[in-house]
Amino acid sequence: MIIFTHVKTTMMNRLFRIGSAIAVITTLFMSAACSLKSKPKNQNTIMIKNESEALTYELPSPSTKGEISLEETLANRRSRRTYTEESITARELSQILWAAYGITKPADNPRFMGGLRTAPSSGATYPLNIYVLAGNVSGIDPGVYRYVAEGHRIVRVIDRDLRDDLCTAAMNQEMIRKAAASLFYSATYSRTTERYGTRGSERYVCMDLGHSAQHVYLEAEALHLGTCAIGAFTDSEVKRVMQIPEEETPLYIMPVGKYTGR
Ligand SMILES: Cc1cc2nc3c(=O)[nH]c(=O)nc-3n(C[C@H](O)[C@H](O)[C@H](O)COP(=O)(O)O)c2cc1C
Repeated sequence: MIIFTHVKTTMMNRLFRIGSAIAVITTLFMSAACSLKSKPKNQNTIMIKNESEALTYELPSPSTKGEISLEETLANRRSRRTYTEESITARELSQILWAAYGITKPADNPRFMGGLRTAPSSGATYPLNIYVLAGNVSGIDPGVYRYVAEGHRIVRVIDRDLRDDLCTAAMNQEMIRKAAASLFYSATYSRTTERYGTRGSERYVCMDLGHSAQHVYLEAEALHLGTCAIGAFTDSEVKRVMQIPEEETPLYIMPVGKYTGR
């Protein structure tokens, strides 16, 4: 009888331990699944490099929560031209590119080039092209990259740090040489003029640019980074340095960096 009770107790203990182990494993599995679900898609920069393709970085997923209110950002925004030697992070670059032209409502229709964006565009024609001249961005090789909104990626087009050359082409505006990175805007006018004719070329493309560039100003301010819209440069020189296709028109350079006096 005593032996039988002992065997019974041992078996119950074992069953209890197995049950507990299953419960613990299930809890761990479920919490891992939940945390995966609640995390943004890409926390880190992912570099894709294979022999046939250009070096590409999948940028960290942008955040839609910030520390500063829109009103404070508007009140503080300034053109800032004096930067420190510090690097900026891939996350900061990602956030600025997303603010400039990131996709907020994906659309399959090829007419929308991936979907509707943070910035409005005349007839959703999206004539702007954004390049990044990365000089001192942690985790990103120096060079010139084209921003691809679909997939929130940057694809390398030149594998050299061209800050000095771009600075020279932009009337030696020193901020370009010092900035950790510069956004470079060009426009493919035909995307808008095919639909709107001269109204597109005389008004809409530059209106689109203003919307997008203002987002860069505001996002930079919200991240405690400095930027300045630069429209004064020699078009042909800038086109040569950045090697942009003939049909693209250079419009703005926006250096981005940590600024002095923060
Ligand atoms: C179309 C445009 C072109 C500009 N080009 C330059 C430029 O080439 N160099 C520069 O230092 N600032 C440039 N700026 C920045 C203005 O000088 C700046 O916005 C103005 O002085 C007001 O200062 P704030 O932006 O701090 O309010 C430009 C601004 C705009 C809107």
